[in-house]
Amino acid sequence: MSFQSFNYIPDFELSIVRSQTKLWVLTLTLFVSAGVTAQQGQSIPTFAEDVAPIIYDNCVECHRPGSIAPMSLIDYEVVRAFGPIIKDRVVSRKMPPFFVDKTIGVQGFIDDPSLSDQEIGTIVRWVDGGAPQGDLDNLPAVPQYEQQVAWTLEDEMGRPPDLVVPIPEPFTVPAGGPNWWMTFVSETGLTRDRWVQAFETKPSADGYPVVHHAVTSMRFPEGGGGFLSEYALGKTADINPPGTGQLIKAGTELVWNIHYAAAADGTDHTDRTQLGLWLLPEDEEPENRLIRAHMADNEDLDIAGGVANARTDGYEFIEENIRITAFQPHLHNLGTRQCLEVIYQDNRRQMLSCADWDFGWHIAYNYEEDVQPLIPKGSMIHVTSWYNNSLTNPWAGDSRNWVGFGQRSTDEMAFSWISYYELTDEEFEAAVAERQQRLISGTD
Ligand code: HEC
Repeated sequence: MSFQSFNYIPDFELSIVRSQTKLWVLTLTLFVSAGVTAQQGQSIPTFAEDVAPIIYDNCVECHRPGSIAPMSLIDYEVVRAFGPIIKDRVVSRKMPPFFVDKTIGVQGFIDDPSLSDQEIGTIVRWVDGGAPQGDLDNLPAVPQYEQQVAWTLEDEMGRPPDLVVPIPEPFTVPAGGPNWWMTFVSETGLTRDRWVQAFETKPSADGYPVVHHAVTSMRFPEGGGGFLSEYALGKTADINPPGTGQLIKAGTELVWNIHYAAAADGTDHTDRTQLGLWLLPEDEEPENRLIRAHMADNEDLDIAGGVANARTDGYEFIEENIRITAFQPHLHNLGTRQCLEVIYQDNRRQMLSCADWDFGWHIAYNYEEDVQPLIPKGSMIHVTSWYNNSLTNPWAGDSRNWVGFGQRSTDEMAFSWISYYELTDEEFEAAVAERQQRLISGTD
């Protein structure tokens, strides 16, 4: 059986991985600067003709009045004023937020919003060239968004959720109060077993500023259940890959774990978070049962004060063949980066993915079907996490303090959310053979 079933860069030492990333950012910066020099004879891009199309397509969804970002990027004057900081955020690939490392491991993600190198180059040359306006007659139309869409997935799924489950009653977070970790239990009222296609979590409008995360798990009537959904800043919804679904049984209760924190505006906020579920029709079953689980948890964390590059490792033994559909790092305030690696039984290792971390964004990286990692049973998943507990991390509270494992954002965690489904030996071998066939026929 061969495991060389997807693209990878072999045998990286993790330290090299990190320094290569920095090198890569440096190279990109140099490349972009070189581009500027080379382009100096040519005309400088303008807002109306070159930059607005990029910003309107990639930024305005969040950077417009009434959405989640701090400023609107529709008008020329504002975009020009933010020019240098926009340049910084796009060159470092912090905006649009999608931090998976493009130089390491498996490549190919569903709904990857990243700008192309060429688009980044255009923005950089525009900023460096004095940010000219151009002819406003050529400005593209400002994208319009429906104001009243209750659920962001409604458009993509073509209908509102089939089932909406709120927390049992409203919960008020008092001004200036401490952090709260609430457990609530809600009835789903389901009378038949169903399969979840997609989910979205919505704090109420007043609750939005105080809900830091909201996780649900299922409690089946006969016991068992498992993880269902997660909401955290920057992450509200997920659609399960085609052909997969999460099983939710008749009579299931939803167990909520919600982290509330007082709002910065110094007022009370009352929340009633709801979970919207899109379900497969009653008589339909998906081909595969999708599972979302913590993997490689490490709770034995020991991060000294003042340390800029602490590292932890966690391991998970894989008992069945699995096909991984998504990787989502999970760290807290101090986290800077996480990598997911597989160690095979013959001791070979492959780096699957690395992603930088920003506590403001919890992003699931969904692999395209053709590159979803195929992991044979008996392998070990290895998760490496890095933390910055020094003055250079604006998220670190008081970097003189030691930090260990815990629930508060100021404590730390180290695990990956992994979405996967199990494969029988036959299914696994067939999937590997299909990959090999594609490699041989050169259509990869
Ligand atoms: C998914 C929503 C989203 C998208 C898409 C997005 N942004 Fe942002 N942006 C935010 C949020 C929220 C913040 C504030 C939190 C943060 O900095 O992470 C932000 C912050 C920024 C900042 C820093 C503002 C400051 O004062 O610190 C800049 C600059 C920026 N975005 C530029 C862009 C550009 C340029 C694009 C498109 C190429 C873009 N963003 C796409 C949501 C988004």
